[in-house]
Amino acid sequence: MLSDQFGRKVNYLRVSVTDRCNLRCRYCIPAEGVSLKKHEDLLSFEEIETIVRAGVGLGINKVRLTGGEPLLRKGFSELVKKLAAIEGLEDLALTTNGILLGAMAWELKKTGIKRVNVSLDTLRPERFNRMTGSDQWQQAKEGFETVLAAGFEQVKLNVVVIAGYNDDEIDDFVEYIMVKKAQLRFIEFMPVGNHHWKNEMVLPSKGIIERINQKHHIVSLPPLKNSIVEEYQIVGSPATVGFISPMSHSFCHGCNRLRLTADGFLKPCLASKYEVNIKVPVRAGHAGNELRRVFYEAMRLKPKAHKMDQGFSDNTRHMAEVGG
Ligand code: GTP
Ligand code: 5AD
Ligand code: SF4
Repeated sequence: MLSDQFGRKVNYLRVSVTDRCNLRCRYCIPAEGVSLKKHEDLLSFEEIETIVRAGVGLGINKVRLTGGEPLLRKGFSELVKKLAAIEGLEDLALTTNGILLGAMAWELKKTGIKRVNVSLDTLRPERFNRMTGSDQWQQAKEGFETVLAAGFEQVKLNVVVIAGYNDDEIDDFVEYIMVKKAQLRFIEFMPVGNHHWKNEMVLPSKGIIERINQKHHIVSLPPLKNSIVEEYQIVGSPATVGFISPMSHSFCHGCNRLRLTADGFLKPCLASKYEVNIKVPVRAGHAGNELRRVFYEAMRLKPKAHKMDQGFSDNTRHMAEVGG
């Protein structure tokens, strides 16, 4: 089992499979653009599989595939198949912006993805154009609705709330989700790897809960182990609404995750610059024990908590490279 110097146990690996994205969300990608990694710098599917197998040998039982936009990686379902076949990996999940989901959802369900989180920050097409630089709002929304229809074990809709940008849509999102069997999640805006963040853009979850309660009735649900979400049932609806509050309520004390970047570094924390190269050993043909050493090193570097509430993150990568 992987445990750190503060006694936290890690069983969850977030694997970024590409740094490319088909959107240009202003809060995620810097205006000046980003330089993308060359294909040969990215881990191959075989290398990702070898690393995940080493992690599973250390107690990792949950993997979430992220990007950039993970569905842009060519042959993505082949990777899903490889990972789904790993014994001991109980939960294989995906976070996506939904644009390519309409075409891929059924195939992904067949190949082994169990849970899908879709990021969609606005229900207004013109605002989507402005926020993301893309006119593919309809595709993103249909992608979300296709995963609902395909019957995955769990489907969530992620909304990063940014004051002055989309905070006037909170009730619209609640009303949209009420008729669906899904979880809507409002996320506080974090200062990770972007130059647009300002403290006044963060809308604390408490304010969102108060706002929702003026019009709708939501009741708090018992917390799940190691979850970063505070979840509420929308009364009279199959849907729930969750709040991810890294800024107002740090959940670092229960942190159970490591990250693997698309170019082969293990990151002990989303908000920190620390990373450990696992590409070199895996390319040298190492597996098992040799790679486990790299996991232990990442665990040794895992900080106790972030300082994002003070506007601080020294992560040197932009969010699209880390996958959230
Ligand atoms: P599940 O719990 O499996 O549903 O996944 P998740 O909520 O961890 O994943 P998702 O990719 O949907 O991320 C939701 C939000 O939580 C995003 O804004 C992430 O950036 C944020 N997030 C995910 N993991 C962490 C973490 O370790 N620390 C912090 N501060 N934020 C995180
Ligand atoms: N703060 C909070 N969440 C963010 N995401 C991207 N950037 C940020 C940020 N600065 C979210 C995406 C997606 C998830 C992977 O991370 O919208 O839902
Ligand atoms: Fe874990 Fe770092 Fe996220 Fe805190 S900020 S929950 S320590 S990854």
